[in-house]
Amino acid sequence: MTEKRIIAHRGLPTLAPENTLANFELMPQYNVNWLETDLGITKDEQVVVLHDDYLDRTTNGSGALTATNFKNLETYSAGSWFAKSFAHAKVPTLDQLVQFLNRTKINVNIELKAVIGPNANALADRLVAQFALAIDALDPGIDLIVSSFNPIMLLKLKRLRPNVKFAVLFENHTFYEDWTLIMQAVGAKIIHPQNEGLTKATVQAMKAYGYEVNVWTVDRIDRANELFNWGVDSIFTNIADQFSAIQSGAK
Ligand code: G3P
Ligand code: MG
Repeated sequence: MTEKRIIAHRGLPTLAPENTLANFELMPQYNVNWLETDLGITKDEQVVVLHDDYLDRTTNGSGALTATNFKNLETYSAGSWFAKSFAHAKVPTLDQLVQFLNRTKINVNIELKAVIGPNANALADRLVAQFALAIDALDPGIDLIVSSFNPIMLLKLKRLRPNVKFAVLFENHTFYEDWTLIMQAVGAKIIHPQNEGLTKATVQAMKAYGYEVNVWTVDRIDRANELFNWGVDSIFTNIADQFSAIQSGAK
């Protein structure tokens, strides 16, 4: 296994419920030093760590995050869906995430989820404004990449914190030939394409633009090696614990 950057997608989601502190706290013991995680915002403007627009899949609550007040959200379990032993897990706040990162010095790719609902634009502004302050509170030794599928979220943050490292996410079905236009409009130097269907020629085109290329989500070691041999810089994976063991020669 080539020594390349392995990024833990939503933490170590085969071992513990994704995007919870109970999950992230497992990372140091597996020598995983890059985390990918997702931010959203509640109806009453609390920024939290959640992948989906809705609560239903990863909590025992239901409905849109942007239709939920934090005092209700914090009564829900974010772990009982995974295993009874994680029933105590909650949806983390952005502040809790920053405290975790500053304590462990784990590097992070924070993905800004596009905000949905009738108040979406104002809530997106509040998410980005609070995130900008969180960036200021982050230990300067922590490497930070901010990504989004939605260029507007990145441009909102860029107005507030122009020197952050920005990455644009692309799904394979949206990967039209305008990707260079979007990258240049955002001023991003890092591209996050989807793994499925990604070809050597496309990776080479991205590298020819001078972009850092980080591919999501790669759960096969042979595919990871192929991508790294093509010049990819990082992979996101759901099994960073297993990749880490291979890299360190533990198995
Ligand atoms: O950032 C890589 C990957 O997390 C993007 O997709 O849906 O898992 O957030 P998603
Ligand atoms: Mg993500």
